[in-house]
Amino acid sequence: MEKLKIEGGNPLKGNIKVSGAKNSAVALIPATILADSPTVIEGLPDISDVHTLKALLEEIGGSVEFEDGEMRVNPEGMVAMPLPNGRVKKLRASYYLMGAMLGKFKKAAIGLPGGCYLGPRPIDQHIKGFEALGATVTNEQGALYLRADELKGARIYLDVVSVGATINIMLAAVRAKGQTIIENAAKEPEIIDVATLLSNMGANIKGAGTNVIRIEGVDELHGTRHTIIPDRIEAGTFMILAAAAGEGVTINNVIPLHVESLIAKLREMGVPVEIGDEDVYIGKSENLKSIDIQTLVYPGFPTDLQQPMTSLMTKIHGTAMVTDTIYSARFKHIDELKRMNANIKTEGRAAIVYGPSVLQGARVKASDLRAGAALVIAGLMAEGITEVTGLEHIDRGYSDLIEKLSGLGAVIWREEMSAEELEQVNNA
Ligand code: EPU
Repeated sequence: MEKLKIEGGNPLKGNIKVSGAKNSAVALIPATILADSPTVIEGLPDISDVHTLKALLEEIGGSVEFEDGEMRVNPEGMVAMPLPNGRVKKLRASYYLMGAMLGKFKKAAIGLPGGCYLGPRPIDQHIKGFEALGATVTNEQGALYLRADELKGARIYLDVVSVGATINIMLAAVRAKGQTIIENAAKEPEIIDVATLLSNMGANIKGAGTNVIRIEGVDELHGTRHTIIPDRIEAGTFMILAAAAGEGVTINNVIPLHVESLIAKLREMGVPVEIGDEDVYIGKSENLKSIDIQTLVYPGFPTDLQQPMTSLMTKIHGTAMVTDTIYSARFKHIDELKRMNANIKTEGRAAIVYGPSVLQGARVKASDLRAGAALVIAGLMAEGITEVTGLEHIDRGYSDLIEKLSGLGAVIWREEMSAEELEQVNNA
């Protein structure tokens, strides 16, 4: 097992390119099951979640090629193979196999999903949607069994605005009989991306990106070619990193509208930001002002950037409050930042940052994907060497991170862990 080592304090300069969106990729790949002929998705990130989903499609009989970010999925040999255990536990988004397989085969058996622990992450709204469409859903020894004689369109009001439930219901409804209306739907760009793929496959979807989505079921879907949207969370991570340790960094392959809330907050802190058509420039920032952040559903400030932002906020002059309204336990990175000399207190869903602190290199552990991103940023800001373990989380969502950061002048590398270090990490 490897750890990441970072020599902090090297000024970052130049250009860094954002990859395709992880949270789109993990839905687009299962969506290819719904077609009766091959689909090609271009621009996929080279991350472990994508490789896991490729293997899952192969497990159900699909034939999948993946090279240079382009995935070709031939669904012709796919069957409704139960997937109660194994790879489905590796990522949260394996729940999209439920919607896609239910939509195609009218049945699915999928183990309850894994993924980052950020507090309780129920999927009751997904289930409510499947049941409204006519499926029977039972939980048998940690796997959900979904069965329907026929799927029929329905009006579904989501009690919680959920990205996963919105997409999963779309996947199950596109081949159902009649009209489905999803009310109080989530509006994230990834939902529009999935709806675009499905529409190009022959689905009839209106309103994706608003809070009411209307779907007219069709009998069959065909393969198509689709280019994924850029990853707004990776873009945001790079913008924050540039503000934290940069002296002029341009982030390429960004849709600036997707990161508007972050741009607003960075400007409020005093970070120089210039917006181009498909790129964002972050200038050297000094004397950062204190700001408060509250995570909200899109287009509000994304919870996925809350953790990286906390690292940057250790530089502010004053006190700042971060409140996560989406997840109750997304603060595991804070204990690690404290090891690096940050002065932060947590109280329930809020963290109070007292700045400025000069971060010091330390041995820290990534407990989840974005905690990993927060610690990499902290390592780049810190004096001395930082060692980050828990890389399996970072590898789930950031492709070619070392190459990309090295291109900006960061001193960052991977090292094999010794047996003793492995034991320490496992016992921690
Ligand atoms: N929720 C329910 N019931 C449900 C579904 C959700 O109560 O049936 C709650 C959740 O517990 C949470 C809130 O609703 O408090 C929002 O959850 P949502 O369903 O929107 O989250 P998700 O679909 O499971 C996706 C991203 C997350 C991101 C959230 C919020 C994927 C694969 N994951 O999760 O991304 O934090 O939306 O934007 O798309 C990440 O990339 O690091 C990550 C965790």
